[in-house]
Amino acid sequence: MRDYNEVKCLEHSIIIIRREKVFTRLLSNLPFDRLLILCDINTWKYCFHEMVPALSSKSCHIHIIEAGEESKNLSTLEGIWETLSNEGFRRNDAILNLGGGVVCDIGGLAAATFQRGMQFIHVPTTLLAMVDAAIGGKNAINFEGLKNQIGVFAFPYQTFIYPKFLRTLPYRQIRSGFVEMLKHALLKGDDLWNRLSAIEPEEVMHHLPYISEAIKVKVSYVDEDPFDQGIRQALNFGHTAGHAFEEWSLLKQPEPMLHGEAIALGMLVELELSVKLTGLDDNFALLASNIFKKYIHFPIPTLQDIEQLIDLAGFDKKNKDQSIRFSLLQKTGKPVVQVAVSRETLSNVLKNIILSFS
Ligand SMILES: NC(=O)c1ccc[n+]([C@@H]2O[C@H](COP(=O)([O-])OP(=O)(O)OC[C@H]3O[C@@H](n4cnc5c(N)ncnc54)[C@H](O)[C@@H]3O)[C@@H](O)[C@H]2O)c1
Repeated sequence: MRDYNEVKCLEHSIIIIRREKVFTRLLSNLPFDRLLILCDINTWKYCFHEMVPALSSKSCHIHIIEAGEESKNLSTLEGIWETLSNEGFRRNDAILNLGGGVVCDIGGLAAATFQRGMQFIHVPTTLLAMVDAAIGGKNAINFEGLKNQIGVFAFPYQTFIYPKFLRTLPYRQIRSGFVEMLKHALLKGDDLWNRLSAIEPEEVMHHLPYISEAIKVKVSYVDEDPFDQGIRQALNFGHTAGHAFEEWSLLKQPEPMLHGEAIALGMLVELELSVKLTGLDDNFALLASNIFKKYIHFPIPTLQDIEQLIDLAGFDKKNKDQSIRFSLLQKTGKPVVQVAVSRETLSNVLKNIILSFS
């Protein structure tokens, strides 16, 4: 019997591990002699030591970036390319991304572009990265104030999910990741939604099966539509509005919202749009909105910000021809993609959501 669980995403393995010995053994078996270990300052401090036994037989160079969304940019990417170049890395070496969604997104992009592409391994250390960012082969940086503007699809050689890393993750970050799990549950259907929406976020760390189930939901969409041409866009539920809130927050707030927090706010908007445009039951939408509201404990935009939010949503990469298109929900387990939403409808819904907090 295997002492780990494996989920296949296309032909790539996502390996979910509980025990330290197994983690060390599988990492040390990676078929790369030379690795660039990419960390941010926190994962260097809190997570890197867990890797040391596994890496003792390999030649490693460590590159540490600043923590947080603000560092997901071109100059950080350039810094990684410089290290790869200066240290003589070759195409048959690999980058090991030890971190949250920021490290995974930027490290994947650095690897996919250096010398036309080297392999990379994701070792996600946040809940959000374990269930979402490290799964599915999207890698990007933000550019000119817009989220994920420059990026590529490239799949990791392997992804190792080791929930022990969550022990040092601040609770606010756990909650942020849990929002993406709730989104996966909405896309999966009543059973997972009922179970997940009833538990407290901190419990999730002790229930590995929840993490595996959330990963499997994402994988099911990626397998069907790896390059986001159709049904995979369902995973953007909450994200068109959510990214606009996140971009707005990066521009306007001294302490920006976390990704999952912005998505929770985006969910409120997109649940209401789903009631108006795709027939989602309004009692269910109210119930789900109350769950997502539990994740919003920070200043939100005001009515004066609505036009800017709409512009930010309109420039979103998922929208064609400047029309604003959303992935919405008909009911749990039944997403609808590419729903056209007029500026006026979005404006009215944003107004309702903002007023509901006053
Ligand atoms: N590629 C995708 O498909 C995809 C999907 C969803 C989100 N994302 C991206 O992921 C990013 C958000 O990821 P995130 O929420 O993981 O943020 P993050 O990478 O910024 O990590 C959050 C914070 O936790 C710290 N941290 C990480 N692991 C830790 C640990 N084990 N102990 C203590 N501190 C730790 C980090 O240093 C950082 O300060 C966004 O940029 C988002 O766009 C990408």
